[in-house]
Amino acid sequence: MEWIKIFGNKSEADHRIMNDKPQLIIIDGKRICLVRHKDEYAAVQDDCSHNGESLSKGIVNYLGEIICPWHNYCFELKGGKEIKGRSPDLKTFPVKADDTGFFIGI
Ligand code: FES
Repeated sequence: MEWIKIFGNKSEADHRIMNDKPQLIIIDGKRICLVRHKDEYAAVQDDCSHNGESLSKGIVNYLGEIICPWHNYCFELKGGKEIKGRSPDLKTFPVKADDTGFFIGI
């Protein structure tokens, strides 16, 4: 796994990523949906495992799950599981911030 720096620090990430507003990030052609929920970050594959819709166009509910805009499948952001088991788990990506930057692990 390689850590890819996407922001200079956590403050910059907090400034650029709004709570519960999914953001599409593209790294080396890989589409990743980055979400900040209650000031914690999670990253999952952007393509819905049901039929490929972009999850970054979806919404985040109060439980911190992301809901696909197409057929409303609902995925946990931490483990990537669809809550009713209707489609495969999403790939998840670790996120970390330290003195040197804000990173996603690819
Ligand atoms: S494409 Fe996401 S729920 Fe169908």
